Amino acid sequence: MGISKITSDQVKERMDIEEVISDYVPLKRKGQNLWACCPFHGEKTPSFSVAPAKQIYKCFGCGKAGDPIQFIMDIEGIGFQEAIRHLAGKYGIEVEEDEARTPEQEQAQSERESLLIALGFARDFFVKNLETEEGKSIGLSYFKERGFSPTIIQKFDLGYALDGWDHLLNAAKKAGFQEEILLKAGLILQKEGDPNRKYDRFRNRVTFTIHNISGKPIGFGARILTKDKNQPKYINSPETAVYHKSDVLYGMYQAKKAIREKDNCYLVEGYTDVVSLHLSGIENVVASSGTSLTDGQIKLIKRFTDQVTVLYDGDAAGIKASLRGIDLLLEGGLNVKAVVFPEGEDPDSYSRKVGSDAFQSYLEKNSRDFIGFKIGLYKDEIARDPIRKAEVIREVVQSIGKIPDPILRSVFTKEAAGLLDIEEEIIHAELNKSLLKHQKDSFEKQKEEEFQEAQIEELIGAKEETSFSEILRLQEKEMIRLLVNYGIEKLEGQELHLSQYLLSETADLEFETPVYAKILGIYRQQLSQNQIPGTDFFLTGTDAEVKKEVIDLISPRHEVSTHWEGRHEIIINKENDDLTLTGYKSILRLKRKFVRKMMEEAKQKIKNAEAQALEFEEVAELQEIYFTLKKVQIEIDKELGIVIG
Ligand code: CTP
Ligand code: MN
Repeated sequence: MGISKITSDQVKERMDIEEVISDYVPLKRKGQNLWACCPFHGEKTPSFSVAPAKQIYKCFGCGKAGDPIQFIMDIEGIGFQEAIRHLAGKYGIEVEEDEARTPEQEQAQSERESLLIALGFARDFFVKNLETEEGKSIGLSYFKERGFSPTIIQKFDLGYALDGWDHLLNAAKKAGFQEEILLKAGLILQKEGDPNRKYDRFRNRVTFTIHNISGKPIGFGARILTKDKNQPKYINSPETAVYHKSDVLYGMYQAKKAIREKDNCYLVEGYTDVVSLHLSGIENVVASSGTSLTDGQIKLIKRFTDQVTVLYDGDAAGIKASLRGIDLLLEGGLNVKAVVFPEGEDPDSYSRKVGSDAFQSYLEKNSRDFIGFKIGLYKDEIARDPIRKAEVIREVVQSIGKIPDPILRSVFTKEAAGLLDIEEEIIHAELNKSLLKHQKDSFEKQKEEEFQEAQIEELIGAKEETSFSEILRLQEKEMIRLLVNYGIEKLEGQELHLSQYLLSETADLEFETPVYAKILGIYRQQLSQNQIPGTDFFLTGTDAEVKKEVIDLISPRHEVSTHWEGRHEIIINKENDDLTLTGYKSILRLKRKFVRKMMEEAKQKIKNAEAQALEFEEVAELQEIYFTLKKVQIEIDKELGIVIG
């Protein structure tokens, strides 16, 4: 898990931008810098530059930029820690784990590693089985029948689980694996009522290896080869410590590079669709494996592209049942297109039927944006039934409402109005209704969450210690947010501006979070010269960190376009209505955090009194401080309306 600072320092010292990037793209020198076609977006003339002197890269086309670590994170789609590991591997630097890990973390980590090793063993075992007589005559011939080539079988680690109860179990035990690990890896099962009897989970089936993003086997899907109706078509690995189904998409490891290059991700239903598309020369494809999409899977796609094309079987009822997936994708900020195959065909069968060229051009010709796709689905019904049309409008509007970007929303509003042959205003009106509802729901949800958090915080003092600085940071952030958003507004019926009020009330506090402290400092300095900085003050010419933070703080989570002025006012007015109260509560909450922090410090000192050899008087004084603070806290709580049992 945690990599020690020593290791990451070593990596940072050793890494070289040119060496790192040229593992992925050929670089050409022009003057001081090196140039290439950008690996992050498709282009024909190089706008991707590498500056060895500064050890950074920047693409003038798509704007991606950073240091060698950032490059590895972006190109491999991995996090910081993983990127350090990757670079350490490249340079042969030994990775030292952070000392700070608890024994439980150590154990969990080493258990995960054991599971991965066992799953790797199983993969090899299943793959090798394809070379046995049974494997050849049953497994391999099935793959051949489906048109899977030896190359593709290898690429996807396809294999075969022999007919029998304990082939894998015995081989794994012989190789030294403990039954407990095999169980936890989901490879074997325990006979009910007889814990001593264990047996293979996957038997007499072809196996599809499920890889994690860096290519390690984490699970299997195993397909039956007979028409036995009493058995499930697929047996899949269970959820394990290394296989979190909601964060995995089948084929992502084999697809990630192509997804980035094509800037599009095809989404299909199952294992065979993924493999067949690769056979047709389409590599940017992943499968949700028969289940509905999750947020985690959408986030995974977003690491590589913002564009998803969903491929649907040609079965109208089935499509309508799975439309929810589209809304989830839209909500995740992805652009969504869809392709429908002819009646009775799925991507797998259709690609085999027409061959790769015809298949690829079918995809290009038939991919439609989600509005056209959705309306197209209901075209016949709409023509027949005007009431149905109203329902479809609502249906379409609901999807549009999920799109976070207001500009895109208005583009799709126009398109929908055209396709449905109605006034744009009607769509706007519906959209406003739906957005308002959405807003209200999420507002209430947020309030609820905040309330629960506060309760938990009160109940378990222990929890507070770990998340303490985080809460303090959020409280500071809230204060700064009020400052930059409403600092120049006057309090109701008073000459005082909100910023003057907030600053005078917090004159004795020093913020912990550097960037908020910096912004607060700017306010103090400006106000002392009788100036109140507005938002534009920060957007022109302050330092980058401050600017970024201020932009973040003044952007509502979902941007509001000018079309929806009405809605805009509603949200803003809520807290704007009573700035005095909002400001006052924010100050109280912040002060409460500081009080709690001082109490905590006093408590710690009392605890260490003996070790520190404190005098009796000193301890008594600390106790006095503690109880005074406690009283202050209770007063604040009363004021805030927090009731403590
Ligand atoms: N699936 C599953 N369990 C089942 C059936 C299906 O997990 N009992 C999932 C698998 O991920 C499978 C996907 O749903 O890849 C699609 O199912 P299906 O098309 O029925 O599987 P194929 O192997 O493609 O079958 P066919 O050869 O009939 O197309
Ligand atoms: Mn299928």
